[in-house]
Amino acid sequence: MAVYPQLPTTVDLKPKTMIKRTLLTLILLFAVGAVQAQYVPTEENLQARKEFAESRFGIFLHWGIYSSFAQGEWYLQNAGLDASEYKKAADAFYPHRFNAKEWVSAIKDAGAKYICFTTRHHDGFSMWDTDQSDYNIVDATPFGRDVLKELTKECRKQGIRVHLYYSHIDWGRGDYPAGRTAKGVTGRDTDTEDWPAYYDFMNRQLNELLTEYGDIGAIWFDGWWDHDEDATPFNWELEEQYAMIHKLQPSCLVANNHHQTPFEGEDIQIFERDLPGENEYGLSGQSISKLPLETCQTMNGMWGYKVVDQNYKSPETLIRYLVSTAGKGANLLLNIGPQPNGELPAAAIERLKAMGEWMRANGQTIYGTEAGDIKQQPWGVTTRKGDKLYVHIFELDAETLTLPLDVEVVEAVSFADRKAVPYTTTDEGVILEVGRVVDTVDYIVELTTK
Ligand code: GLC
Repeated sequence: MAVYPQLPTTVDLKPKTMIKRTLLTLILLFAVGAVQAQYVPTEENLQARKEFAESRFGIFLHWGIYSSFAQGEWYLQNAGLDASEYKKAADAFYPHRFNAKEWVSAIKDAGAKYICFTTRHHDGFSMWDTDQSDYNIVDATPFGRDVLKELTKECRKQGIRVHLYYSHIDWGRGDYPAGRTAKGVTGRDTDTEDWPAYYDFMNRQLNELLTEYGDIGAIWFDGWWDHDEDATPFNWELEEQYAMIHKLQPSCLVANNHHQTPFEGEDIQIFERDLPGENEYGLSGQSISKLPLETCQTMNGMWGYKVVDQNYKSPETLIRYLVSTAGKGANLLLNIGPQPNGELPAAAIERLKAMGEWMRANGQTIYGTEAGDIKQQPWGVTTRKGDKLYVHIFELDAETLTLPLDVEVVEAVSFADRKAVPYTTTDEGVILEVGRVVDTVDYIVELTTK
């Protein structure tokens, strides 16, 4: 297995020595094929990044045979199941209520612009008609339908972009070199670990996904962290894999949920369960790059369907979360775990409806915006589009709001009814006389600035 060489540090060295060592480093990396020419995104790719960033809202779907156990997508690993016993669930997977049109319509009506679908999660089950393994929805289940084909077709019909989640980990295959989470899984044949074979398998699968399912907006990788505790850094050969993706579809964005600052060849940066710059959940200490940003978050507590988890965030919380994400200049990828019968949970549909209603009225202050001039405040956030600065007020215990702005305000109106909001400009900034803000999810003041 190819590994990155351990390289001498360049800290505190004289310039000449540093240059020598840098050269040595590069030669070594070239020798193991770890470095290729620096990644230069194509025009199509840059355009796709722009469209991605403008869209601001996507829906994540975690769906697989794990949904049948109704214990979340980590059930195999968390419960210490035997991998070969777990596989039997495929033979009983029959999501007879699956209807791509219903899913896509509900998601589109919510105002989301893209869907990210789990094609193959850590359990290793493929949700499309792959030729690389029989452990897939067409060959291994009585359902026998290529749900990815149906979903991608419908997305295209309704004008929703398709992103594909793809796990680098496989808790079932013997050729996957097990890292810290895979090691705990019993019933795997670990003697057969074979990275070149497994890497080839993944690339063949990615090839199918990128040639048989139309335009793919993004490949969303997950699982890098399975090897983050290895004594010798594990070489996932990502640059070569990313290059293959970009070659097959130049506008396909590469994302990796590794919880690190983006690696060479990636097109967007992901944050798991936290807004960029925050780290309450504990997976997001990494610095923020200049790439388009995306925060993924659950509607309840788990990604895959979990019957005991009815702890859904309220529509108000979700709307504010979406607005706050936009206030950070990021997209929200909000998750739903479809049921084993193929339906989206009613609680999720209800929330999609509420978000859609809000987005129809206020989407102008979210789509195509960037982070506003003022960073997140206890009262709310700001977003900006051109000369419009949108002040999103969630909670305010006063009748005036002072905004420390460097720009001149020429007009202030309440976004909902276009009524003028009185304001004065002082040394401290602009003071908005918003009056008592009551019972609103988000009271928006639109400022025109110069
Ligand atoms: C984590 C989990 C995984 C989930 C993902 C979504 O990486 O391992 O189950 O799919 O987060 O962000």
